[in-house]
Amino acid sequence: MAVGKVYLVGAGPGHPQLITLKGHELIRQADVIIYDRLIQEEILAGARADAERIYVGKQPGLHQSRQEVINATLVESARRARIVVRLKGGDPMLFGRGAEEAEYLAAHNIPFEVVPGVTAGLSVPMAAGIPVTHRDFSASVALVTGHRRDDKDTREVDWAALARIDTLVFFMSVGKLPEIAERLIAHGCPADTPAAIVQQAYWPGEHVVVGTLAQLPRLSEAAGIKPPATIVIGRVVQLRDRLTTLHRDLRRDSDEAVGFGLSSGSLFARLAGAARGSRDLEAALDLRLFDELDQPTHAAQLARQHGWDAQHLSEMLARLAGLGLLVRDQGLYRCSEAASRFLVTRSSEYQGSDLGAMLRAEQGYDPLKRLEPE
Ligand SMILES: C[S@@+](CC[C@H](N)C(=O)[O-])C[C@H]1O[C@@H](n2cnc3c(N)ncnc32)[C@H](O)[C@@H]1O
Repeated sequence: MAVGKVYLVGAGPGHPQLITLKGHELIRQADVIIYDRLIQEEILAGARADAERIYVGKQPGLHQSRQEVINATLVESARRARIVVRLKGGDPMLFGRGAEEAEYLAAHNIPFEVVPGVTAGLSVPMAAGIPVTHRDFSASVALVTGHRRDDKDTREVDWAALARIDTLVFFMSVGKLPEIAERLIAHGCPADTPAAIVQQAYWPGEHVVVGTLAQLPRLSEAAGIKPPATIVIGRVVQLRDRLTTLHRDLRRDSDEAVGFGLSSGSLFARLAGAARGSRDLEAALDLRLFDELDQPTHAAQLARQHGWDAQHLSEMLARLAGLGLLVRDQGLYRCSEAASRFLVTRSSEYQGSDLGAMLRAEQGYDPLKRLEPE
């Protein structure tokens, strides 16, 4: 039997234009796309309408076995499809288990190729105006993960060695920041070394906090910094004053409708147009479906929990999936990251009855009778 090929493709750090041409082309050609979340979902807009999309992001109760499930899905997909794209954030080989997936494919004789991506480790600091090297300030960079797998992970962090490196970039370390600062200072890194934490670079939630190494844990906590965020420590951080680009093209302003490449106004018009003649969107907002479907859920289960009409609800979910507002996976539904982020971040203007009122007023939309509970 002919076996397909798996491409481990880097999706970049969070802006749909920061994927390589090769990655973009592969997404257009793919028979099967296996993806996690966030950036990946937006990039899928370029996929073939008949491409199979398999979501393997975090699901309740599946944390332990998730990687095994992903590995098995990769092999099984390659055995029945020609081009399988495994999309991974940033670069697939940097702290993303890309090497483990490649090992598994090799062990199962599945042809594969790695398509590099723009890693957060180099791009996220620069989004905040911080180059990781500079002839006057830094001749060495270390990329470090703050995430330790489990108690089987016995690799020790060599804090003394890290303290001697000019620029340190920490991934997955928001909660570890106090320990990182304490250990580095204890191993000789000056407490007044400039340091920054960059949250959600290239997303509307982008936020940068700058201070000294000693101050950063407190400043970061006070600013409420949340993952994903990247920490940069070293004298290069002071270049930010000179190099921050206020009008960066690759910035996402909050008015941008994430995931659709449209302004929120035109997205609204498109949603309204798509929803006109149907009550789905308004009813879904009234039922708070977009909040409820944070996790993959079966329509029947949701209907049971809330006493809703199961058949009406299933039909509504299918239509919302057709509009791209939900993702359907093996009989389960969940919110599309992109659409839900839009609805959540912009919903103060458009939510619930407000949305219905705007649809009626601006688009001549006349919602049918509401979905009534059984
Ligand atoms: C599992 S690692 C994957 C890294 C990825 N393979 C790469 O090369 O960028 C995820 C971590 O990358 C960093 N990261 C990824 N995207 C980011 C972004 N847009 N802004 C800030 N940090 C980001 C965060 O430290 C996050 O916890």
